[in-house]
Amino acid sequence: MDAMTRPERPLELLGALQLKLGPQAVLTGAEIPARNCNDWSASLPQTPIAVVRPLDAAGVSETIATCRKAQLPFVPQGGLTGLCGGAAPEPGWVVISLERMVGIEEIDRASATMTVKAGTPLETIQKAADEAGLFFPLDLGSRGSCAIGGNLSTNAGGNRVIRYGMTRELVLGLEVVLPDGTIVTNLNKLLKNNAGYDLKHLFIGSEGTLGIITRVVLRLFPKPRSTMAALCAVADYAAVLDLLDAARGGLGPLLSAFEVMWPDYWEVITARAGVRSPVGTGHGLYVLVEAQGTDESIDAPQFEAWLEGLMARELLLDAAVSQSVAQTKAFWAVRDICSEFAQVLGPHISYDIGLAVARMDEFVGRCKAALTIGIAGCESVHYGHIGDGNLHLVSWVAGLPVERQPKEAMDAIIYGLVRDMGGSVSAEHGIGTMKKKWLGHARSEAEIALMRTLKAALDPDHLLNPGKVI
Ligand code: FAD
Ligand code: LAC
Ligand code: ZN
Repeated sequence: MDAMTRPERPLELLGALQLKLGPQAVLTGAEIPARNCNDWSASLPQTPIAVVRPLDAAGVSETIATCRKAQLPFVPQGGLTGLCGGAAPEPGWVVISLERMVGIEEIDRASATMTVKAGTPLETIQKAADEAGLFFPLDLGSRGSCAIGGNLSTNAGGNRVIRYGMTRELVLGLEVVLPDGTIVTNLNKLLKNNAGYDLKHLFIGSEGTLGIITRVVLRLFPKPRSTMAALCAVADYAAVLDLLDAARGGLGPLLSAFEVMWPDYWEVITARAGVRSPVGTGHGLYVLVEAQGTDESIDAPQFEAWLEGLMARELLLDAAVSQSVAQTKAFWAVRDICSEFAQVLGPHISYDIGLAVARMDEFVGRCKAALTIGIAGCESVHYGHIGDGNLHLVSWVAGLPVERQPKEAMDAIIYGLVRDMGGSVSAEHGIGTMKKKWLGHARSEAEIALMRTLKAALDPDHLLNPGKVI
């Protein structure tokens, strides 16, 4: 160990960094906010040695230079709504928070793009697009808190993937700071650009392990002029598949969401979270169907006629059709209420399974039975973006604090079944630390080896978010 890496050096080096970046930029000791000690997952809070809040890519690069001199691992943080520990620090690490890198730099109507700083909250971006008469389609329950850099780093999915794809499909360019401090700027606005490797895809979905994203060029879309929504009750999963088929065929490109909720979810939200059910209860499954179009006077009657046809076929046992923006919001509130599960259910573990659409209900039945038989007192609820082949499941044993929840046993049952049924251990939330052990259930050895090769090439010293994902 040379003089540069002696243990007493880090605080001195961080002090020097503070002189460069300003007093608001470097927080140490008692100044470290509790919020920066963990993300939204069930991982336990850990206090880093410092929280650094640069204003731009140059500031991130300076911070990295300091971390490298002091040999301190560093972790990027956005809005800290991640669900698998990806942004969680460890003692002795430096947090690089993007929270002061906020703002919209440009909306380019001709290119239909928006250039933003990576710490900008998703909802701010949605509103700015709307005010410009355009539309940014990414939408998640955490929209008010998550940041676009975090959305890119997790390749977030959310509610409109069925129509617009995952975050990856919504990005044209980015600026990223590599683990050695090099700033790579490619704020590309071209929809077609095959000049060499498309490097942005290395960083999208890599959960802050390959670089720190500082600016982003996003694709914008025409603003929908009509939104139709229905909450439907059906008898069984075969009817869900029929409804999905009918929605794809009957609504075509207008179909913008297809969210399914199992009865265990419905029971929890109506009986325990106080949600008023828009349809009768006691049904087999509940589906929120949304369509967005360009002309209310044509689209709304067509949507209603389509639903009436399904009622006549007795595919739908009950349906509530939204008649106002407020009602559409109320339907989505039924789906978004899961963000309050911490208060409603107490400590729990959340899962994010990718699976063939046709086999979702088989998975739910087998999984629930295995959890009930295998773990005393284990309860679970099921819901998700079923049109995208993405099931969420939340499981818990009532009365146990989070550190005593039988996560290992739940993981073994759930991910074992995922592997047996050819699914993925993460459809949209990522791996972080919470699912790292199970990556091999969804990826081959050769794939994981290639991931390690990429990581070693970009971060040979393993200082950027080490131990995450792989
Ligand atoms: P953080 O939690 O801060 O970080 C996430 C990961 O990205 C970490 O590994 C971190 O190190 C890295 N990171 C953050 N910023 C950067 C950066 N600038 N450069 C490089 N790496 C970075 N996810 C979905 O996909 N679909 C959903 O429908 C969905 N719904 C949710 C609902 C609720 C109520 C909650 C709490 C979460 C939900 N999530 C969902 C998960 C979460 O909101 C997303 O993963 C989101 O994209 C994370 O953004 P963030 O800014 O909070 O990231
Ligand atoms: C959702 C989060 C959990 O879809 O991904 O509600
Ligand atoms: Zn989701």
